[in-house]
Amino acid sequence: MSGEASESADAKRIAELREELNHHIVLYHEKDDPEISDEEYDTLYAELQTLEGKYPELISGDSPTQRVGSAPSTSFAPVEHRIPMLSLANARTEEELTGWETRVRNHLVRRDVDPGQLTYVTEPKIDGLAISLTYENGKLIQGATRGNGTVGEDVTLNIETIRTLPKEIENAPPLIEVRGEVYLPIPDFAELNQKRVDAGLPAFANPRNSAAGSIRQVDPKAAAERPLAVWAYGIGATEGVSFESHSEEIEWLREHDFPVNPDIAVHDSIEGVLERCHWWLDRRERLDFEIDGVVIKVDAIGLWDELGVAGREPRWAIAWKFPPTTATTKLLEVVWNVGRTGHLVPFAMLDPVRVGGVTVSTATLHNEEDLARKDVRAGDEVVVLRAGDVIPQVVSALPQKRPEGAKKPEPPEKCPACGTEVVKPDDSVFSICPNRSGCPGQIFQHIKHFVSRGAMDIEGIGEKQVARFLEEGLIRDVGDLYGLTQEQLESLDRMGAISAGNMISEIEKSREVPFPRVLFALGLIGVGSVTAEVLADEFGSIDALRAADPERIEQTEGIGPIMARQIAESLADERTWAMVERLKAAGLKLELAEDERRPEGGPLEGKTVVLTGTLPDLTRDEAGAMVKRAGGKVTNSVSKKTDFVIAGDSAGSKLEKAEKLGVPVLDREGLDRLLSGEIKSDE
Ligand code: IVH
Repeated sequence: MSGEASESADAKRIAELREELNHHIVLYHEKDDPEISDEEYDTLYAELQTLEGKYPELISGDSPTQRVGSAPSTSFAPVEHRIPMLSLANARTEEELTGWETRVRNHLVRRDVDPGQLTYVTEPKIDGLAISLTYENGKLIQGATRGNGTVGEDVTLNIETIRTLPKEIENAPPLIEVRGEVYLPIPDFAELNQKRVDAGLPAFANPRNSAAGSIRQVDPKAAAERPLAVWAYGIGATEGVSFESHSEEIEWLREHDFPVNPDIAVHDSIEGVLERCHWWLDRRERLDFEIDGVVIKVDAIGLWDELGVAGREPRWAIAWKFPPTTATTKLLEVVWNVGRTGHLVPFAMLDPVRVGGVTVSTATLHNEEDLARKDVRAGDEVVVLRAGDVIPQVVSALPQKRPEGAKKPEPPEKCPACGTEVVKPDDSVFSICPNRSGCPGQIFQHIKHFVSRGAMDIEGIGEKQVARFLEEGLIRDVGDLYGLTQEQLESLDRMGAISAGNMISEIEKSREVPFPRVLFALGLIGVGSVTAEVLADEFGSIDALRAADPERIEQTEGIGPIMARQIAESLADERTWAMVERLKAAGLKLELAEDERRPEGGPLEGKTVVLTGTLPDLTRDEAGAMVKRAGGKVTNSVSKKTDFVIAGDSAGSKLEKAEKLGVPVLDREGLDRLLSGEIKSDE
């Protein structure tokens, strides 16, 4: 074929692939009914990516490789706000916050207003997207983004897909504009991202971005797929109604069924405000929506005009921002650690920096692909993020500050722990040390994982002790732990009889650890604690799991074809199975105990139940345990396979999905009737 002919054949193939992939994206995301496997999808996607790499000039915005949302956003009609949508000044410290209150007071005094005792309202500062909702005679007629504060975009159709938002309000004035923040609840964000990754689409960086992307979808059907939520926090233009205080506005919103955060509070001193700010900071990690601070507003609306606006920021409100969880620092070196399954994981050695209250000197770079995509190099200034208790990560580099000649880091050709030549499987984003049972790096990581909390939880034995036992030749793998004796431990330098005795009894105790945690401790590729739990529940014993073929394993909730194959392969591996046999011989629990098994013949035998929202008198765990005792299975996401959804208060997207798929939805009382056998699914 001539060059031109092959180019036109490639162009044709690109068009074909795009059409085909788009078809599958719709089936997967909108119809919930995929017709090809994830692997087949990935293959098509990779082919398209390769071809587009060859002909960058043929890449177009509508290619599945380019789209962030399900449809590229074009343009929305402009909407002029009746009253500008302002932003907020920030206070980063307590001093800045008390300084603001002093300025408020001084400003009022200068305008001959006696500030007297001021009251303040505190609200969470939601990390989402500001929205304006216009109701005329009680009907929602327009939803608009903030835009530049004066002119926003008309996103009415997408706003209408938000279930918790009233589309009509009772006893309404002729005009009222409600303002609030659109956001994506964190659990829904995680679910959405997982789906995107499964479909070969790029993941969203955070809930805010995905909420913003969703509200600006041109296709409202795609927006409806994203379970957006709203917190209403204020009122803009009105006709026929007025408010004296912000707390009155909040009350009005509540009475008219707008979603209003239940923890908004009123304070009569700045000390009370400060206390509340810390209260929010403490709760931050436990909320199911992201907040980046607390908004403080002067309650009396009569004072708002007196205080006025400076630039685009009203003087009557301020945002107390939480200490940053990101920081920039210099990346000194990229090192490669071998993980417990042989994966070489790139780590950044950093110039130590304070992030969210702790000093960080190492951060993960995840994997080769991620590293290449972010183009992070030694010598770069990098942004480091710390969220919750997880390992800090390098988010991005600031290439404008890159030292000359900085090279792209490459994975080593030989395993840094054992020197074995590494392999790079085609379908992996990691290079792998293939020396599964002989690599000291892998063995160390595996034993460390085995004894850790959540796995066998052997107290007193951690990273340091494991390293020492290995060095001294006391153990070679996890099986050896159960052969350790008091004398052996005491023979170690600086090890007293008491510590040695404690360790032995902790090891002893771990023989009682229940099967799901032992399964997790085995460290099979892809088997995290949640997967271990569902596998244990599904198969009941390691023997039954080993006897299952990948097709059977794949029938387990949450397990895809790739993972199913990996699990089957690991258990078929001779050395892995030898380790299991040794642990069995040591008396570890490699099957569920009688009372842990799902009872046969219970009213919920063979039934799958999803729990969502808050039940009045039960935690989700308690309700889950009740379902299991009745023989049922509890899963996390609603699909066609779900038999019942039990929905409590503020149930969100799962309830919506159940309704869409026609899955029966029951309340708390319905749960009792289900457990007593009064309701059967065949009804
Ligand atoms: S009040 C005074 N209240 O923060 C007018 N804003 O930095 C400002 N935001 O664009 C709005 N939670 O998107 C207000 N409880 C809250 C808020 C809030 C989040 C956002 C909003 C605004 C931005 C200003």
